[in-house]
Amino acid sequence: MMGSVKARKQVVLVTGAGGEVGNGLIHRLAKTEGYDILALDLKPLDEATAAKCQAQIIGDILDERLLERLVSEYEIHAIFHLAALLSTRAEFTPETAHEVNVKGTLNLLKLAVEQARWHGQRVKFLFPSSIAVYGLTSLEEKEKAGAVAEGDWTQPTTMYGCNKLYCEHLGRYYARHYRQLAVESGQQGVDFRAIRFPGLISAFTLPHGGTSDYAPEMIHAAARSEPYASFVREDTRIPFMAMPDAIDALLALMEAPLDRLSNHVYNITAFSPSAGEFAELVRGAFDGAEIRFEPDVRRQAIVDTWPARVDDSRARNDWGFAPAYDLQRCFEEYLLPNIRQRYADD
Ligand code: SER
Repeated sequence: MMGSVKARKQVVLVTGAGGEVGNGLIHRLAKTEGYDILALDLKPLDEATAAKCQAQIIGDILDERLLERLVSEYEIHAIFHLAALLSTRAEFTPETAHEVNVKGTLNLLKLAVEQARWHGQRVKFLFPSSIAVYGLTSLEEKEKAGAVAEGDWTQPTTMYGCNKLYCEHLGRYYARHYRQLAVESGQQGVDFRAIRFPGLISAFTLPHGGTSDYAPEMIHAAARSEPYASFVREDTRIPFMAMPDAIDALLALMEAPLDRLSNHVYNITAFSPSAGEFAELVRGAFDGAEIRFEPDVRRQAIVDTWPARVDDSRARNDWGFAPAYDLQRCFEEYLLPNIRQRYADD
């Protein structure tokens, strides 16, 4: 007798669930009707985040057996593949970073294809790419380049940037050309959508191992009344965004009708203060904030290859991207109240 096929649980998979973006995303998704969340991370989630998930799996995206088990147990309709080693950390262990950032992404793309075969619908694959895919070769060029568009200056100097750029290509391949010589080709299973994020600033969490970390570190240190030595020069300028806008953007891109999307990869941005301007705002907000500038030549060199501004008109036109927070609102309405509250009891 044939056993009946047990219905698998329908979920949205979030990898890197315990990271900065994962955390914010899970809290937002949980407020949205119709999403059961399957969280995957190397470490257990904090209680509040775990409570928002249908299930949490503690494990590694490089563990193919684990991923196979997920396929058999869950019906996955969308994947937010957020797990990655960030740019500074990746430079200490480039080969491990490649393994996690590229092989991990490949594993998830393969999982998406398999899932689509099972349930017959394309699996949406949301991928956070980065300004790190850009590589300007000098400060003069950075100055001259102005707002950089998606097709320009894609010569990254970091392992992380190379990994993100290549994974964008892999995503496009899986979405459009996967097994193009096979008899049954043409039935593509993955709907790949990537956002090149600027530096992200959260009021609740700190990033680990990024090179844009100086901005969030500065403000969190001031809120804890701790002195801070910035590892970049005062005149350093790259784009940033408040975390809620980054989460909204991921959700907006996920919801966008496919026929509106002219591309797989989108720049987005909100504001581009210099590190010095950022420090002035922090000093104005926190009396006695002690911020010094002690540039680390090597980390500085990385940030100097990233554009000061990006052109996000493609995202604005195709799926209506528009950040809610400019720099001032970000400080006054998002960062300051929430950060003060966060450290109030410490
Ligand atoms: N914030 C990332 C980093 O600094 C860039 O995407 O690595």
